Amino acid sequence: MARKRILTGYRPTGKLHLGHWFGNLQNMLALQEEYDAFYFVADWHAMTTMWADTHEIRRYTEEQVLDWIAAGLDPEKCTIYRQSDVPEVSELALYFTMVTPMSWLERVPSYKEQRDQITDKDLGNVGFFEYPLLQAADITIVNADLVPVGEDQLPHVELTREIVRRFNNVYGGGADGTGYIREPQALIAKTGARVPGTDGRKMSKSYGNAIFISDEPDEIRVKVMSMITDPARKLKTDPGDPDICPLHQIHKLIGSPEAIAEWDGCCRSAECGCVAHKKALAQELADYLGPFRERRKELAARPGYAWEVLKAGAERARPVTNEVITTVRRLTHIEP
Ligand code: TRP
Repeated sequence: MARKRILTGYRPTGKLHLGHWFGNLQNMLALQEEYDAFYFVADWHAMTTMWADTHEIRRYTEEQVLDWIAAGLDPEKCTIYRQSDVPEVSELALYFTMVTPMSWLERVPSYKEQRDQITDKDLGNVGFFEYPLLQAADITIVNADLVPVGEDQLPHVELTREIVRRFNNVYGGGADGTGYIREPQALIAKTGARVPGTDGRKMSKSYGNAIFISDEPDEIRVKVMSMITDPARKLKTDPGDPDICPLHQIHKLIGSPEAIAEWDGCCRSAECGCVAHKKALAQELADYLGPFRERRKELAARPGYAWEVLKAGAERARPVTNEVITTVRRLTHIEP
C-alpha cells in the first residue's frame, strides 16, 4: 500500500530556535519515517509580510534547510523543496481565487490577529490577505492527504478543505470519478511543547528572546545567564516556584527526571540559587546541541549544498504538481 503523503512548510525567517526544535521539528523527524513526507520552505509566504524588503529571504531559506538537515531530516527520505521552485502553486492559487469568497479570507483568525499585532509593517497588501489561500494551494498542489499542524494552523487546514470542496463542486466530476482534487485532513501534532524564551514569553525570533539551535556554547551561556526566573524570587534565600520559571521549563525538555526533580526541590526550599541552575543548564544545553552544531558546520562548509537539496526536491515534486495542475486545467476547461 502506498504511504500517505503529508505536507508541511515553514516560512523562512532565519535560523531555527528551540521553539521549533521541540515544537514540531521532532515531529517532522518522526513523520519522515512513516509517511511520504513533503517539507517545503514557504518563501512566497515570507514575502507576504516581508514584501518591502526581500533581501534576506534567500539567506533565511538556506539557513533553514541546513538546520533541517543537520537536525536529521533526510533528503533521501523526505522531499525538501522551495515553494517558488514549484510555480504550479501560484497557478493553482489563481484558480482558487475564483471560487473563494472574500468573506472566507476575512474571517481567518490569524489574519485579524496579525494585522493587529504586527504594527511595524504594512500588511494592507493583497498578498498578505490571501495568504491562507496560497497555503491551500501549497497543500493541494502536491495531493497531500494529511497536514501535520499545531492548533494555530488548524483554521488554515479547515479553510483549505472548504476551498477544495467548493472547487470540486463547481468544476469536479467526470465519468471515471477521477475529476476531483484531493481534500486534505489535519494531522494534529503530538505534544508540541510550548517553549518559553529568555524573557518568559513564547520563544520567537521577533521577540528577540530566542536561543538558536546553531548558537555556539558562548552564545548559549550569555542567553541562559540573562534568562528571567521566578520574578518573586529576589534573593537566593527566597524559596522559588519552578512551575513559573522559564529556566525550569527548558531544563525539563533536556534533563533527566532525577536531575529535574532535584533542581525542582532545591529551588522550592531555597537550597540552590538561580545562578547555579543557569550555569548547569547552559552547559547541558550546549552539550545537547553539540552533535547538531557539528553536522551543521559540515553542511555549511559544502558550498551550494542547500540549493542542491532544494533543486533535487523540486524535481521530485514536479511530477506530482504537474499531474495536479493538468487535472485542474482540464476541470476548469482551460485545456480540453
Ligand atoms: N502557515 C504556515 C506558518 O505560518 C506555513 C505554511 C505555509 C504551511 N503553507 C503551508 C504549513 C502548508 C502547512 C502546510 O507556519
